[in-house]
Amino acid sequence: MRAQVCIIGGGPSGLLLSQLLHLKGVDTIVLERQSREYVLGRIRAGVLEHGFADLMREAQCGERMDREGEIHHGFFIAHDGKLDRVDLARHSGGNSVVVYGQTEVTRDLYAARDRMGGKVVHNAEDVTPHQVDSDAPYVTYRAGDDVVRIDCDFVIGADGFHGVSRKSIPKGVLREYERVYPFGWLGVLSRTKPVSPELIYCKHDRGFALCSLRSQVLSRYYLQVPLTDRVEDWPDHAFWAELKRRLPDAVAAMLVTGPSIEKSIAPLRSFVAEPMRYGRLFLAGDAAHIVPPTGARGLNSAASDIYYLYHALIDHYERGDDSGLDAYSGKALARVWKAQRFSWQLTMMLHRFPDHSDYENRLQATELEYLFSSDKALGSLAENYVGLPF
Ligand code: APR
Ligand code: PHB
Repeated sequence: MRAQVCIIGGGPSGLLLSQLLHLKGVDTIVLERQSREYVLGRIRAGVLEHGFADLMREAQCGERMDREGEIHHGFFIAHDGKLDRVDLARHSGGNSVVVYGQTEVTRDLYAARDRMGGKVVHNAEDVTPHQVDSDAPYVTYRAGDDVVRIDCDFVIGADGFHGVSRKSIPKGVLREYERVYPFGWLGVLSRTKPVSPELIYCKHDRGFALCSLRSQVLSRYYLQVPLTDRVEDWPDHAFWAELKRRLPDAVAAMLVTGPSIEKSIAPLRSFVAEPMRYGRLFLAGDAAHIVPPTGARGLNSAASDIYYLYHALIDHYERGDDSGLDAYSGKALARVWKAQRFSWQLTMMLHRFPDHSDYENRLQATELEYLFSSDKALGSLAENYVGLPF
C-alpha cells in the first residue's frame, strides 16, 4: 500500500493533520493502536486557544464547536479567601478561549474523516517506522496474522507520549528534558450545574483545586492529591467535601454535588524531546512534549506543531519548497518551550509543594499579589492563556 503521508496515532494531532492535508489533496493514512471507542473514552482538558479553534474551522470541523462550545473572556483565581478575575479580553487585546471538551474535538475530527472517506486504521498492532533516515521510508503494522506495509514520503509520529515514533529515533540523536511534579490531579466529571460560569483556579493551603466545565449541565472538577493516592481512596462524598474545603466560602456554598460519571488520577509531568525531526520522521503533539494540565496547554501545544507541519508539507507538495520542513523542528520547539514555561509557571504558582520552605511559600504568595497588582503581569498571563501566535 502507498500513501504520501503515513500518520502514526489517531489522537487529535494525527486526525487534524490528516484532515487538513486531505483538503489540499494530499493522501494520508492514519494508523491507530486502539479502537475508536477507546480513544473517545478518554477525558482530557476542555479549553481551546482561539488559534486552535481557527485551525478546526479551516479543517471544516468547527461547526459543532462553534454551536456548542462556550466562548470565555476570563477566568478566576481564588487565593487567600479572595476571588480575583483575569479579564482575558481586556488584557490580551480582545482575545478569548473556547470551552469545548477535547473528546468532542476528537469526535468531530473522526466524523470529518469518515465523511471524506479518510483512511483511518484502528487496532493497528506493532506499528513500526522503517528507514526514516532514507528517501524511501515505510511503516509496517500487524492486522491479525497479516503484516501490512505502507510506503510513503513522510512518517508523522503523532502517537502520544507512550508511542513508538519517538523511541525509533536513535538515542545519540534525541535529547530529552523532563520534570515530574510531586503530586497528581484527581478529576471528577459530574452531570451537575457548574459552580461558576467561568473557570476557577484555586490556590489553597490544603492543595490546588480547579472548577471547570464542559457545558452548563456538565461539570469537571479537580483536586491536587499525593501521588500515592488511588481513585478508590476518594469516594464521591470525600471528593466533594475536600473540594468545598478548598473553595472560598461563597463559592463552596453554591456548589451543586452529584454522582461522578468519571473519576481518574493523572500525574503531572513536563517533558520535551529534541529534535522533533529525524530524516523523514516528524514528531507532533504529545509524542514530543507533555505539559502539566494547569492552563490546559496540552492540545494547544500540539496545535502549533500541526499548523507548522501542515504548511511545510503543503509547501513541499505544491511548490517543491522544503524550507518549512527543514525549519520545522526549530520553529515548533520555540513555541513548545513557551507553552512549557507557561504551564510550569502556573503549576508552580498555584500548587502546594510538600518540600517547599516558608521562604518559597512566601515567594509563591507574592507571585499572586504581584499578578493582581500589575496590568503588565496580567497581560503576560492573558496572552499566554489565549495562546501565543503560531
Ligand atoms: N501505534 C499506533 N498508535 C499509537 C501508538 C502506536 N504504537 N501508540 C500510541 N498510539 C495512539 C494512542 O492510542 C492515541 O490515540 O496515538 C494517539 C495519540 O493521541 P494523544 O495521546 O491524544 O496525543 P495527541 O494527538 O498528540 O494529542 C495531544 O491531546 O491527548 C491529549 O494530553 C494530550 O492534550 C494533549 C493533546
Ligand atoms: C478541564 O476542563 O479539564 C481543564 C480546564 C482547564 C485546565 C485544565 C483542565 O487548566
